[in-house]
Amino acid sequence: MATNRTFTMIKPDAVANGHAGAILDRIIKAGYKVVALKYTKLSAETAGQFYAVHSERPFYKDLVSFMSQGPIYAAILEKDNAIEDFRKFIGATDPAKADAGTIRADFAKSIDANAIHGSDSDENAAIEGNFFFSNFERF
Ligand code: PPS
Repeated sequence: MATNRTFTMIKPDAVANGHAGAILDRIIKAGYKVVALKYTKLSAETAGQFYAVHSERPFYKDLVSFMSQGPIYAAILEKDNAIEDFRKFIGATDPAKADAGTIRADFAKSIDANAIHGSDSDENAAIEGNFFFSNFERF
């Protein structure tokens, strides 16, 4: 069944480079409804918890350090077929392999500073949304 919610973060590189407004604008113009939004900064501990599923991967330490280096925007988005469509919309993890016109092709510089996160499954979207937002912070 097609899912209708996904979770995203505009990552520290995109925020620091002043791209957050343009990225949010594109997300909304692409038809995603923002049902929760937060500007925040992860501690190393919190980033480590968020990415715990990748703790055995060689880049885990760098990923945690990068994601806790500056502020981010976290959001829950709603649209038909949200998970699959949003992954296509943001482009491949490695911006060098991302299709033209995707967020990562236009705003990311490298695989480790790749501008944006998008949930990879319905289950993870729910887990990730719950990680950042209480029931009072989403609609
Ligand atoms: S994914 O999202 O599961 O398809 O991609 P994956 O390749 O499994 O990567 C999982 C997250 O790790 C980030 N990543 C990296 N960070 C630093 N260095 C390297 N080499 C690297 N490779 C992947 C990738 O951006 C994913 O983070 P999120 O937040 O999910 O985008």
